[in-house]
Amino acid sequence: MPLVNAKDMEAKALAGHYAVGAFNINNLEWTKAILQVAQELNSPVMLGVSEGANKYMTGYKVVADMVKAMIETMHITVPVALHLDHGTYEGAKAALKAGYSSVMFDGSHYPLEENLEKTREIVTLAHFMGATVEAEVGTIGGEEDGVIGRGEVADPEECLVLKNTGIDMLAAGIGNIHGKYPANWKGLEFDALAAIKAKVGEFPLVLHGGTGIPEDQIKKAISLGVTKINVNTECQLYFQAATRKYIEEGKDLEGKGFDPRKLLAPGTEGIKEIVRIKMEMFGSIGHGND
Ligand code: 13P
Repeated sequence: MPLVNAKDMEAKALAGHYAVGAFNINNLEWTKAILQVAQELNSPVMLGVSEGANKYMTGYKVVADMVKAMIETMHITVPVALHLDHGTYEGAKAALKAGYSSVMFDGSHYPLEENLEKTREIVTLAHFMGATVEAEVGTIGGEEDGVIGRGEVADPEECLVLKNTGIDMLAAGIGNIHGKYPANWKGLEFDALAAIKAKVGEFPLVLHGGTGIPEDQIKKAISLGVTKINVNTECQLYFQAATRKYIEEGKDLEGKGFDPRKLLAPGTEGIKEIVRIKMEMFGSIGHGND
């Protein structure tokens, strides 16, 4: 199946009460691992790519062409969307031009009117090109220069006006944080999520900062309308732990253990392991051919 946008998979997730995992990719190994697991578990999947990761991989075109080619050569038949994560106004346009099937335009740092205006423009362009759009209000917390911010909980009224720009998915801050959660994290603000859902109705909601959110909170978020959950840090941590083990056990020093195809294999398996865990938790397994 060629690359698809997120419209159908999100509508099906909403109707089926599960969430599609959006896993960030950094290179070929990441992409291969996530696609393999999605196919193995018959699950729809979104590949998230930050602007930094796009730059690391030398540009939007390389990423889009690589993903499209891998879907073909790996005979992937489950729905796969290639999604720009936290895109700027310029980045979203560049990703669409290169063939991304979905983009997040993150205008949450602009004054609301400007966020709305720019979001409308990106929506018009994306829909013309057959792509989907995610936008954000409220801010997702996270670590910046060693300071962990709680983020700003989204205002339901602002969520509704943003939804009305014509977007396909809405990311709203509800106490979620990018990266590892601090020990004193108070958990997701379900009252805020319920208030947002009451305003926007049946509409795909996105939960960022999927790393480390306990299963019961994930399930509750899905029951309140979350249909897309972003996971980045946890794949990195599983990759790191497996790679560290390989090196600490001296495997890189044995025979051809230095060969990158051997050196990167345990980390790649680590990514597969956490993606399986997350897909099970999100309930997307078996929904590849809905
Ligand atoms: P984590 O790194 O916390 O999993 O968050 C990922 C994310 O929300 C990407 O937008």
